Order: sequence, then structure tokens, then C-alpha cells
Amino acid sequence: MVGPLAEIGCRIRRPRTLATWLIDRLFDHVFDQCFGISSSTRASLSSLNLEAVDRAGYQAISYLDFPRLIDGVNADGIFIDFGSGAGRCVCLAAQQSFERVIGVELSESLCGLARANIRTRRITNAQIECADATAYQIPPEATVFCFNNPFRGKILEAVLANIIRSAAEHSRAVTVLASGSPIDAEFFRQFQEAQGLQLCWRTILPTGCIGMVFMNSSPFPQIAPLEHDARDHCNLPHEPASDRDDDRGLPRSTRALVKVNGQKSLRASRV
Ligand SMILES: C[S@@+](CC[C@H](N)C(=O)[O-])C[C@H]1O[C@@H](n2cnc3c(N)ncnc32)[C@H](O)[C@@H]1O
Repeated sequence: MVGPLAEIGCRIRRPRTLATWLIDRLFDHVFDQCFGISSSTRASLSSLNLEAVDRAGYQAISYLDFPRLIDGVNADGIFIDFGSGAGRCVCLAAQQSFERVIGVELSESLCGLARANIRTRRITNAQIECADATAYQIPPEATVFCFNNPFRGKILEAVLANIIRSAAEHSRAVTVLASGSPIDAEFFRQFQEAQGLQLCWRTILPTGCIGMVFMNSSPFPQIAPLEHDARDHCNLPHEPASDRDDDRGLPRSTRALVKVNGQKSLRASRV
């Protein structure tokens, strides 16, 4: 896991995203109020009584980052947020056209908060499952899986294996979204090394976090494996030339994930 000082140091070294990150940190609770939910209070594992190796505490995905991460993803089938916390990501995904949105969260108190948030927003196609992600039975209709830095190591390995097994047993294309700190190389490496997943797209999100999109099948060649150094590990420039210039490994024209012949795939078009 990345310590707070290392995280702050890394953000300061990225002037292009520093301002957005600061705005995000300062006004996160205001964005929450505007959206009509309560999800901005961070919670450590110890405060949740959930301390264990490889688990991360609660911090919601940024309101500024989520639209960019989901941009171009085929929003049909079931969206699952692993480690859904207070349900921000679930509530945001429910605004897309998914049939159903499911949050899987270990903490009972966060599950309660997430359910309250879903009720407040009057969302009818979302539910929260209070469970350990490794024990969660993946529905055969699940198509998009989101990991906003919930856990790593053996836990992440087991959950990714479950996804790939489910996609093979109930033949379908699946999309895996990963977002996390720009210096958390280990987290992203696990996705990259998961057998059966192919990295399709990676970007620097508005707050400086890294976003990656993986699929179990793609008509495009796999992006080169990641290198060692944390930032270079993600193979991204530290300061993208412009907000829309930061994708690597694919032509700029091929970043959207859309429906092709009823299957999720990449299409060649600008977003
Ligand atoms: C960084 S938060 C992500 C919150 C949410 N996905 C969002 O973006 O708004 C990570 C969450 O994962 C949960 N978590 C950690 N280990 C877990 C596990 N094994 N199974 C389910 N949830 C877990 C934590 O309790 C925490 O709420």
C-alpha cells in the first residue's frame, strides 16, 4: 500500500494534475452534497475493524476521475464494484445504462451507508452485497468489474481468477476497470499479469490517479508489459501534453469500448 506522505510527494511532482487533485480533495464533500449522497469520509481499516494484509481502507473514487474511467465502456449487462465502500462508484455507475449495478463490500457499516445512499438517490437498479470479494459468486451476466484500489495480493489474485473463470464458463466478453495511485505499481502489475486479461487502455485520470481498462478479448494487440519503476511502470508521461493526449499503446482513435456484433470490443473512433 502507498503511504500518505509518498502519495502527497508524488502529487506535488505532477504539476499538471496537482490543481485538480487539490480541488478534488478540498471539495469532495461539496461534490457529495451536490450529488446528494454521503460518501466522502475516509475510513481506515482499523476504524472499520477490518485490518488484514492486502486490504485497503475506504476512500471513494473521485467524482472527477470516474467519468473518464468509464468513458467509452459498453454500459450494458451488470456492473460490479469490488470494495464498494459507501457506494459512490455504485451510484455513479447506476447513472449509466447498466441493467444492474452491484457493490460488494466487506464492512457492514459501509454497506449500510451505501444502501442509504442508494435509497436517497432513488436508484432502483443497484444493490449492495455485504461479502468478502473472494467469496462472492459472480453472476453470469456480469460484464464490467471495477476495482478502485480495494485490495491486492492473494485477494486480488483470487477475485481476478473468479472473473476469468466466470467469463470462460459463461462465454462472454468482460471489461475490468482499475484505478489507483500513480505510485502503486504493484496494484496495476497484478492486473497486467493476470492470465486471460489484456490491457486495452491506460490513462492519467484528472486527479493524477492511473486508470486502466482490461478485457478478456480484444481485436487490438496487447500493450507492452509494464516496466519496473512505479510511474514508468504505468508507461505514462508524468505530465501528459493535454488532457486527451495521454493514452499510450493504442492509436488515439481507438479508445472507445463499444458493442460490436453483440460483444464488447474496441471500436476505432474518437470519443
Ligand atoms: C478504496 S475503497 C473503494 C470504494 C469504492 N469502490 C468507491 O470507489 O467509491 C476500498 C474498499 O474495499 C473494501 N474492501 C477491502 N477488502 C475487501 C474485501 N476482501 N472484500 C470486499 N471489500 C473489501 C474496503 O472496506 C473499502 O471500503
